Formats: sequence, C-alpha cells, structure tokens
Amino acid sequence: MNDIRNIAFIGAGNMTQSIVGGMCKSGYPAESVWVSNPSTDKLDKMKTELGVNTSQDNIAVASQADAIVLAVKPQLMSDVCAHLKEHVENLNDKLIITIAAGIRMTKYHQYLGDDIRIIRVMPNTPSLVGQGMSGLVTESRVEDADRNFVTEAFNGVGETLWVEDEDQLDILGAVAGSGPAYFFEFMDSLAKGAMELGFDPDKARAMVQQTCLGAAQMAKESELTLEQLRQQVTSKGGSTAKGVEVYQQKNLPEISAEAVKAAVRRNQEMAKLF
Ligand SMILES: NC(=O)c1ccc[n+]([C@@H]2O[C@H](COP(=O)([O-])OP(=O)(O)OC[C@H]3O[C@@H](n4cnc5c(N)ncnc54)[C@H](OP(=O)(O)O)[C@@H]3O)[C@@H](O)[C@H]2O)c1
Repeated sequence: MNDIRNIAFIGAGNMTQSIVGGMCKSGYPAESVWVSNPSTDKLDKMKTELGVNTSQDNIAVASQADAIVLAVKPQLMSDVCAHLKEHVENLNDKLIITIAAGIRMTKYHQYLGDDIRIIRVMPNTPSLVGQGMSGLVTESRVEDADRNFVTEAFNGVGETLWVEDEDQLDILGAVAGSGPAYFFEFMDSLAKGAMELGFDPDKARAMVQQTCLGAAQMAKESELTLEQLRQQVTSKGGSTAKGVEVYQQKNLPEISAEAVKAAVRRNQEMAKLF
C-alpha cells in the first residue's frame, strides 16, 4: 500500500483479525496499526503474531489515528460512538470506516456529527480466509484518496466492489454476505445426493468442495458469460444435461432470485432497528 495512515480498529474480533492480518501481509506497517478491545486475549495474540499496537482503551487508539475502523457488533455501536464523540478531539479530521452490518450512514452522522467522513464496508465471512467480497459505499463528499485507502486495505482480504448507495449495499449483503450460506446449502445437498447413492461422506465433501472451487476459478478466469460456461459443460443428451434439466424443472433460477429478495427485505428491516 502506498497510502500509510495511522489506523485504529475498535474491536479485535474475527473480522478485525482478518483485515489487519491481510493488511500486514500486503506490506502495511504494523507500527501504523492500533487495535483496542475490552479483553486482552485477542489483543495479545495480534501483538505477538502481527506486531501491531494494542490497548484496552478505545479513546487512546482513536485519538492518535487518521482513520478509525468501527468493528464492534451493531448493537454496541451507538454506545461506542457516543464515547468516541465525547472524548476524541477532531473527529471530523479522521476518516471513519464502519464494517457493522445494517447501520446506515445517517445514523453515524447522528452518533458522531454531521461533518464526519464515513465509508461503510460490508465484508463477508470468506474474508477470514483471504477470499472475501467486500462491498463499499460512501457519500459524494468523501474524496478519492480516502476511497482508495479503504479499497487497498480491504483488498488484503479478497476483492472489493464499490456500490452507488446503501440500497445497493443491502443487495450486495444479500448476495455476497449471505451467499456463502447459499453455497454451503447447495454443496451440502450435492454431497448428500452422492451419499444417498452410497458415497462415503468425506469423499463426497472433498469432491463437492473442489468442484465448487474449480467452477468459481473457471468463472473468474473466463471471459464467457456464466450461461455460456454452463452450456460448455452441458453436452446435448449427456448426463449433465439431465441434471440441469431437473434444476430447471424445479425452478432453481426462481428459487435463487427469491432467496436474494428475501434477504434484501430482511436487510432493509434490520436497518430500521438501529
Ligand atoms: N463476521 C463476519 O462475517 C461479518 C461480516 C460483515 C460484517 N461484520 C460486522 O463486523 C463487526 C464485527 O464482527 P466480528 O464477526 O468481528 O465480531 P466479533 O468477533 O464478535 O468481534 C467483536 C469484538 O468487539 C469487541 N468489543 C466489545 N465491546 C467493545 C467495546 N466497547 N469497545 C471495543 N471493542 C469491543 C469484542 O470484545 P470481547 O470479545 O472482549 O467482548 C470482540 O472482540 C460486526 O459489526 C458485524 O456486523 C461481520
């Protein structure tokens, strides 16, 4: 990364550990990273493994930072922000990045002030293994330098995708955020299909997960559309065509589209809770 800023993570949970791990692996200097958390076990681990600065004091880490990443659970966010607002000077000079699900930018303005620069990021769980798909959104007055800084930071744990507004972030959450669960469900049902026919569970799992990974890698590397890729492995009259026919008869495309819409609706409902 070219743009090195003092960055403070509030909360040292799973996501913070992955993001900071990814940043450090990409060459971000550990001495510019600060992490705070109420209990010390995760802090000690991060200090030992990554060499970052740690503290149990949110105010201490936030005060000396140029960028603050809010990484606590959504239900704690208003209290954490109120504490920062009360004790951290010049909050408007710092870039605020939040990874909490469901809390809209207007809320952060209520919590932290009208003039803060805020970027919302929606990572997903594969970030934990460096294969995340993070959605990002911000307001028009946030400048490219801030956008680029956050893009690079989250590229350390996978790929990033900027969306135009928070409604789109709800859609991204319903596809990329919830998507791993859909794929696990699908993989599980494929494996069970093989097991019903007498396949050993471990072998069924190994077969399914590698096939899934291979298909995703092919989709990534190919210039063909997903539809064309599907056609390519579906010879007329062959066994794959028979399998695909069942999916179409049972209307898998409609089921998937409905699942996405249901998850978007839930994201919108949850946004009203905060
Ligand atoms: N995990 C995901 O896949 C995912 C995806 C998208 C978005 N997110 C969002 O990312 C955020 C963090 O998720 P996570 O999975 O990393 O959660 P997590 O593992 O539960 O981490 C939350 C951390 O916050 C700490 N904490 C609690 N109170 C605090 C306070 N007052 N000040 C500072 N830190 C405090 C907790 O410490 P103690 O354990 O010591 O209490 C814990 O280490 C959430 O808002 C979530 O919505 C997560």
